[in-house]
Amino acid sequence: MPGTHSTVIRSTRYSYREHIVQLSGVQITVNVIIYRKNGRCGKLHRQFAIQGEIAKDGVKSMSYVEAKNITKIYYMGEVEIHAVAGVTFSINKGEFVVVVGSSGAGKTTVLNILGGMDDATDGELFVDGQDITKLKGKGLIQYRREDIGFVFQFYNLIQNLTALENVELALQVSKEPLDAREVLCEVGLEDRLNNFPSQLSGGEQQRVSIARALAKNPKLLLCDEPTGALDYQTGKAILSLLQDMCRTRKMTVIVITHNLAITPMADRIIRIKSGRVSDISVNEHPKPIEDIEW
Ligand SMILES: Nc1ncnc2c1ncn2[C@@H]1O[C@H](COP(=O)(O)OP(=O)(O)OP(=O)(O)O)[C@@H](O)[C@H]1O
Ligand SMILES: [Mg+2]
Repeated sequence: MPGTHSTVIRSTRYSYREHIVQLSGVQITVNVIIYRKNGRCGKLHRQFAIQGEIAKDGVKSMSYVEAKNITKIYYMGEVEIHAVAGVTFSINKGEFVVVVGSSGAGKTTVLNILGGMDDATDGELFVDGQDITKLKGKGLIQYRREDIGFVFQFYNLIQNLTALENVELALQVSKEPLDAREVLCEVGLEDRLNNFPSQLSGGEQQRVSIARALAKNPKLLLCDEPTGALDYQTGKAILSLLQDMCRTRKMTVIVITHNLAITPMADRIIRIKSGRVSDISVNEHPKPIEDIEW
C-alpha cells in the first residue's frame, strides 16, 4: 500500500512489528509485539495509535516526546535550587508547541534538558522512543549533534564567519545535513550568503541561526525566546518562518516565549509555573501567525 512503512525486529524473546500507514494525511501506527515462551509464540500485545495519541485497545502508545516527572536541582554551596520540580508532558511528532511561564519558572532549564545540554536530576525523558536521561558520553554528543537544532534569543553566530560559513560550520558535525545554501535561500537569505553577522539586521541574523539549526535536519527544533530581541514585524516574520517549517517539513518545533498573545498559533501550549506544569492545552484549529495581532 502506498505510504506504508513497516519495521520488523525479531529476537529470541519477542518479535516486534510496527506498521505506519498514511491515509489522507492521517498517520495510523500499529505496533504488534509477540512474546515468545520456550521458542513458541506467547502473549500477543497490540497497540493502535492514530497520530501517536489514541489506542484502540486502551493502551496509549508513546508520544514522540514524553517527559515524566523531570526534576532539576542546582546546588550552590549549601543551597538547593529546585529549578524544575516534577514536569510531565507529551508532544506528538510534527507539533508546534509553545511553552509559556513567568521569568524563573524553569522554561529554559526544561528546554536545555530536552536538548541534552543539561542533565535532569530525576525523571525520564523519551524522544522518539529513546530515554535521553540515560544517555552519556558519545551517545549524548551524538544526540545533540544529530537530533537537536537550537535557536537562541541572541542568535549566537560566529562574528568572523559569513552567514553561509556559520551554517556550514554547524553541518560539519551533522550526520545527514541538508545543503547550507538551499536552507539559507529557504529562509529568504539568498542575497546575504556572504555577509558577516555585523552586516545583517537582527531578523536576518536570527534567520541565519534558524537556517543553521534546520540544516542539521534535526528531530526537534528548540527555540528559546527566538523573537525576544526583535521588533514586532520582524518577530512575526520569524514566527511565521518557524510555523512554516513545522508544517512543510513536519518538524517538531518547541518555542519558549513570554508573549501570551501567540499561543493561538500553537498546536499545544505548555504552561510552566514555579518549576511545574500548571496547564497543557491543545488547539484543534491553530491560527496562522499572520492572523494574530498583539
Ligand atoms: N546553572 C544554574 N545554576 C543555578 N541556578 C540556576 C541555573 N540555571 C537556572 N537556575 C535557576 O533555575 C530557575 C529556573 O531558571 P530558568 O532559566 O529555567 O527560568 P526561565 O523560565 O527560563 O526564566 P526566563 O523567562 O527569565 O528566561 C531560576 O531560579 C534560575 O535562577
Ligand atoms: Mg529562559
